[in-house]
Amino acid sequence: MNIKQKSLSIVVCFFVLQSTAQINPYNYHSQKKVVGVNGAVVSAHPLASKVGISILKQGGNAVDAAIATQLALAVVYPGAGNIGGGGFMVAHLKNGKNIAIDYREKAPGKASRDMYLDSLGNPMLQLSQDGHLAAGVPGTVAGLFASYKYASLPFAKLIQPAIDLAENGFAITRSEAESFNELKEEFTALNTTLPVFVKQQHWKTGDTLIQKDLANTLKRIRDNGQKGFYAGETAKLIVAEMQKANGIISYEDLENYQAKERKPDVFNYKGNTIVTMPLPSSGGIILQQMMKMIEKRNIGAMKFQTVASVQLMTEVERRAFADRAEFLGDPDFVKVPVKKLTSNAYLAGRMKNYDAKKAGSSATTKAGIIKESEETTHLSVADNKGNVVAVTTTLNGSYGSRTVVNGAGFLLNNEMDDFSVKPGVPNMYGALGNEKNAIAPGKRMLSSMTPTIVLKNNKPYLVVGTPGGTTIPTSVFQTLVNILEFGMSAEDAVNKPKFHHQWLPDEIDVEKEFDKVVKQQLEAMGYKVMQRGHIGRTEVIQIKGKQIIAIGDYRGDDAAEGFAPVP
Ligand code: GLY
Repeated sequence: MNIKQKSLSIVVCFFVLQSTAQINPYNYHSQKKVVGVNGAVVSAHPLASKVGISILKQGGNAVDAAIATQLALAVVYPGAGNIGGGGFMVAHLKNGKNIAIDYREKAPGKASRDMYLDSLGNPMLQLSQDGHLAAGVPGTVAGLFASYKYASLPFAKLIQPAIDLAENGFAITRSEAESFNELKEEFTALNTTLPVFVKQQHWKTGDTLIQKDLANTLKRIRDNGQKGFYAGETAKLIVAEMQKANGIISYEDLENYQAKERKPDVFNYKGNTIVTMPLPSSGGIILQQMMKMIEKRNIGAMKFQTVASVQLMTEVERRAFADRAEFLGDPDFVKVPVKKLTSNAYLAGRMKNYDAKKAGSSATTKAGIIKESEETTHLSVADNKGNVVAVTTTLNGSYGSRTVVNGAGFLLNNEMDDFSVKPGVPNMYGALGNEKNAIAPGKRMLSSMTPTIVLKNNKPYLVVGTPGGTTIPTSVFQTLVNILEFGMSAEDAVNKPKFHHQWLPDEIDVEKEFDKVVKQQLEAMGYKVMQRGHIGRTEVIQIKGKQIIAIGDYRGDDAAEGFAPVP
């Protein structure tokens, strides 16, 4: 996709972008593969990847670049990039330290367990998914400042490219134009004042999107730090927006929000050290369970997407997701038996009823027994100092609640739907839960986001992650298995077809390109196989010697940028 160069006025804007002088926001394309020597960034939008790489070129480290890329995504990729949502960062630093930062949204203080049930106890999912009441207290800005302690450049330098892109505008891609057009009615219905995403005429590829209110919010963050969002003018605008349409986020909720540094989930897989996100994301635990359930079964010999390898991977996905529904929730609120769930003995027990000749069933394969419980976006960054960063961040659904904070110019998440609104009632991704993931004031909703780093001999080897709701851990799982077991290139591991099983519904979802013969063989074994749209948009960085190979998924506008690219 090429955005055509526009007229003189646009060229003027180009020069206004002092902080990112090499970036032309009106003429760019999605570069899918790059091999850098001094660093690489891969994200869901070419302009955001360019912002990230410009920060590395200015001497910033991978954390600097990850912060700047996230801020740019909040402007150029409003469907999932955000300051009104939340996310997770996993990093391996050059000093050998692994870190995990949790900036997941929280339920507001006025939230309650049954807030999305009517008087008869029936779920009202529209309220957990659309509009003001669907929003959790945003965490992204607190997360940026929590990670900033590992950065090296002035924060003003990291945020300025995003301010410039919001203030002066950029040319939108085809998929952005399409989604603005498709969502026109929803944006109109779910906002008290029309947001900039709505205009009279149809949006076209290359149209300019200018976001002045968002630029002013970003300036308040630049000038006042975390308080530029969680206090003062921005916080007042959020509360005023809430009061217009039954929203419940209060000024105190915003003032009290804190990102948390957590102990990353670290485990060994055949000599590789895998560093991933702990609770409140389910992603890391699920990934560990799945990897450990296949570890002793020589999946490499079964080869990529044969009926044998797909069946084995499906059956471990089924078991991990059954456990997710039963046992997982915010560890600050509920007790989760993480050690047990990830122990070799427990996982061996989970596979006892695995039969390589027969389809498993979710009616008979439930959660294990323990005595004591789509629209998101990922970016991967590597610098030349030995730092690597994986960030997955989200508004939850595409464009979140579709509600923009009037005067502040950013979209609010609809993350409350990631709670279990009622045991047995699936959320928008079909995920089930119980009391462990029930709504409570100040609690973080369970996530599936799985930003992951693989180390070989304690040196960064892979940086992986993807959006996709419940398909996130299974996509990360498949990407790792593709590379570590099937010996695939990073490019193929990202772009080859993916599949997904999440216990319930009891079906294997496959992309259109999934092998038809294998599909028939699985059906003959008794599996229900459903074709669906794309699964995830995986962004991988692979470090091989001096080469830093970055791959953007073909499934979207995703783009890779390299510092000192090898032609
Ligand atoms: N909102 C998607 C997730 O956190 O899993």
